[in-house]
Amino acid sequence: MIKHLSSKSVMYNRQTKTPLFDVLLSHAKRNVISFHCPGHKNGRSINSKLKNYTGESVYKFDVTVFNEVDSLHDPTSVIKKAEELMAQAYGVQHSFFLVNGTSVGNMAMLLAACQSGDSVIVSRSSHKSLMSGIIISGIWPIWIQPYIDQDLDLIFNTTYEQIKDALNKYPEVKAVFITSPTYNGIVTELKKIVNLCHKKGKIVLVDEAHGPHLLFNKQLPESAVSAGADLCVQSTHKVLSALSQGSVLHFNSKLIDLDRVKKIVSMLQTTSPNYLILASLDLARRQVFLHGEDTFNKIIQYAEYGRSYINNNINFMKCITRNEINNLGFDLDVTKLTINVTKSGLSGYDIENLLAKKYNVQLDYADVFNLVAILGEGSNKNDINNFINALKDINDKYHGKQKNWILKIPSLSTEMVMQPRDVFLSKKTKKLSLKKAVGHIAAQSLTPYPPGIPILIPGERITKEICDYLIDMSVKNIRLSGQESASLKTVKVVTI
Ligand SMILES: Cc1ncc(COP(=O)(O)O)c(C=O)c1O
Repeated sequence: MIKHLSSKSVMYNRQTKTPLFDVLLSHAKRNVISFHCPGHKNGRSINSKLKNYTGESVYKFDVTVFNEVDSLHDPTSVIKKAEELMAQAYGVQHSFFLVNGTSVGNMAMLLAACQSGDSVIVSRSSHKSLMSGIIISGIWPIWIQPYIDQDLDLIFNTTYEQIKDALNKYPEVKAVFITSPTYNGIVTELKKIVNLCHKKGKIVLVDEAHGPHLLFNKQLPESAVSAGADLCVQSTHKVLSALSQGSVLHFNSKLIDLDRVKKIVSMLQTTSPNYLILASLDLARRQVFLHGEDTFNKIIQYAEYGRSYINNNINFMKCITRNEINNLGFDLDVTKLTINVTKSGLSGYDIENLLAKKYNVQLDYADVFNLVAILGEGSNKNDINNFINALKDINDKYHGKQKNWILKIPSLSTEMVMQPRDVFLSKKTKKLSLKKAVGHIAAQSLTPYPPGIPILIPGERITKEICDYLIDMSVKNIRLSGQESASLKTVKVVTI
């Protein structure tokens, strides 16, 4: 339930309802003869290889738009009611159901809040869907480089001070785009940032893909909706119980036109949404509203138990703690475990592979330095026990000679010369050898993992420092996301 809300209230009673799911269930039970899409006709022609495992009834939820089940693009009945309940649960003016994840929500936020040519302050470590949003919307990004901690081998979040400085330097910006929590669960001082931005009439957009649960448990950091973000998008599927692709865009703004948001969300989404995903959003909202406090108390307990076991019993691994993060001016979503493995002599990738192949444990993410384990509504104590026992075994059996990896990145304070959209649409590009690219305008992104921060962004002037870094990566045969051939010898630049 929402923090501090009484279980006797009218709102609580309303939140027990699941209008969209109820209608879909009633429709499925009636075995209605289908002359509509999809072609499998209530699951009848779904391949038996799949159906023998799943059973048939689930496919009866896979319907199309008709009066009884409402339309995602122009909701007037059950989808409208389900979205209203979602908005009420999160305390916002309007919520939009999304069926292409937070990726589509990030694009929608930029398009809804900005006009082509506006500038927006964004973190360099944002998810790649933000770059798509930048290209589609035609905005000018003003990049902020997040702080990288060489001891913890972690990328931190955009700070209040960085936003304040950027707003002073670029008073013309239309909006500020924040990602909080990060993949590692690091939460920035959102309320301070929102207050500052609103004082200056700037819009705040938040990618809260990893934070749909924050509002519903008192032990967790403040969520973007209670911090007052104008628009915020959450991957309900990442931590709560929605099916993959199920996300929600929340609107709570005096600075953005709601009708424009509606139009843009509709422009970007399929006209054949999966109703199972939509129903799972309806159910996930009910579940977290009614049981979020208790469920996440348990999840936090499991996570803290795992964290403490790792830090006290596994000598070559180390799990970041809330205290460490607080000391650096951020907060931590303690349901996530980020485990540093640099002292184990194995990379995060090695351990991820061992966990999958030998211990039947699959992680969400690993890089050279860290493992990230995401707990969600469905996690239990047994899972955590299996995980930490596997880590202990790997630590004891497989650890090797400590390696000397360093998480470094060159200074990215370079010049944005062209809008990423213009570069993307331009046919005037060519490939140049890395050595010759200094001074040219980049026509592609290049992102090493780790740290997952783009070294090159379309439209930026390529500096000698960046070129040297790329050459170093190429010599070490490190593959970069965005490179167009097997080895990184050239880079695409704009020809003018
Ligand atoms: C910070 C962040 N934003 C956005 C996304 C995209 O979310 P989705 O998978 O729901 O499209 C991700 C995915 O991992 C993410 O980590």
